[in-house]
Amino acid sequence: MTPAPHFRAHAQNLLDFIDASPSPWHAVDSMRRRLEAAGFVRLDEAERWSLAPGGRYFVTRGGASLIAFSLGQAALPAAGLRLVGAHTDSPGLRLKPNAPHASDGVARLGVEVYGGPILATFTDRDLSLAGRVGVRQGGATGGGGHVTHLLRFERPLVRLPNLAIHMNREVNEQGLKLNKQTELPLLLSLAADDPAGDFRDRIARRLGCAQADILNWEFNVYDTQPGSFWGADEAFIADSQLDNLASCHAGLSALLATESAEATCLAAFFDHEEVGSTSAAGAGGSFVEDVIARLGGAQGLDAEDRRRALARSFFVSADMAHAWNPNFPAAYEPNHRVMVNAGPVIKVNASQRYATGVDSAARFIACCERANVPWQQYAHRSDLGCGSTIGPIVAARLGIMSVDVGSPMWAMHSLRESAGVLDHFYMTQALIQVFSS
Ligand code: CO
Repeated sequence: MTPAPHFRAHAQNLLDFIDASPSPWHAVDSMRRRLEAAGFVRLDEAERWSLAPGGRYFVTRGGASLIAFSLGQAALPAAGLRLVGAHTDSPGLRLKPNAPHASDGVARLGVEVYGGPILATFTDRDLSLAGRVGVRQGGATGGGGHVTHLLRFERPLVRLPNLAIHMNREVNEQGLKLNKQTELPLLLSLAADDPAGDFRDRIARRLGCAQADILNWEFNVYDTQPGSFWGADEAFIADSQLDNLASCHAGLSALLATESAEATCLAAFFDHEEVGSTSAAGAGGSFVEDVIARLGGAQGLDAEDRRRALARSFFVSADMAHAWNPNFPAAYEPNHRVMVNAGPVIKVNASQRYATGVDSAARFIACCERANVPWQQYAHRSDLGCGSTIGPIVAARLGIMSVDVGSPMWAMHSLRESAGVLDHFYMTQALIQVFSS
């Protein structure tokens, strides 16, 4: 059945968000724009905060992490916090600092693998670069300051051509194997005399600065193909970075839709999940704790009241879940087949790879039921290693009741992932109930 217009409109909004966010730094900038348009006030970690009752604020750290919150009607120790967390980064390829080089007549860009992408999906795609560039301020003899610019090359700039089957006869039996050092550099052009200078010049022209003032860069390799609806009923979507920009979009949409809630609501979007979360801005860092401490400080809470507030809090870690794919039945736990367009998935793992417990899951189920949304439960095969999320990390840092959930999807960590039109709406509705519960 074709999804009703309100489902499709919300999925289109997600695809637009992803297509405007070709790197985690761009994703945070997209979120900043949406928050500011909704009247959220930007805070600076380096300044003193004065928070008005009922106020709506956000703060960023490290360029690709963002926490937004709206202060509740009730005092923190009375109602606690409602938190939703997701990650802004996706696995893929990142440019090395001295990326441009000439190899036997062809200019290439050296890359590093970020997290755990399915590398074969990067071949033969219309790839480009998006990221940020550090530019010196005030010239070479200036005061040593710099500014960081976001930069996106819109058109396909680089490519990773497959090896022809005539030179790789076993590819359909053995799978495509790529050496990470020698076989991943991206083709840029026929070699010029100075590929490094040419590449820096290309950046300088885009930024309108002198080539000599470019200090450094962080570039993510992204797929220029926009998101699409597919399937007989157009009930599915495909795009890059659904893991986990779909959860970021659901969490942000839910926060924006929640007005004058009883509890203080906080949405936290972290960089570096795909590489383990241990960084200043990652979920394993102090960002969320620091923000909560400052919220408590603004309300004059002592240590006892802060602890009471946390004891009344609820954290939902939203990250994508593995949907049943009938082409690969042996990969799934047969009693936990989660279906696309059948609602949010509650992820359970006895070894605490997911933060879910019986109370936290029951509380999330109640939110789904209030939202009139179906729900499912996922467990990984016992003979396969289970992935993890920011859920257990944040739960351990804050010591609060936590649950891991996510929308079902196919092809996690492919450059082109798929998910369900209905599921994205369902998840957003469930998260609205989390914030208003
Ligand atoms: Co993820």
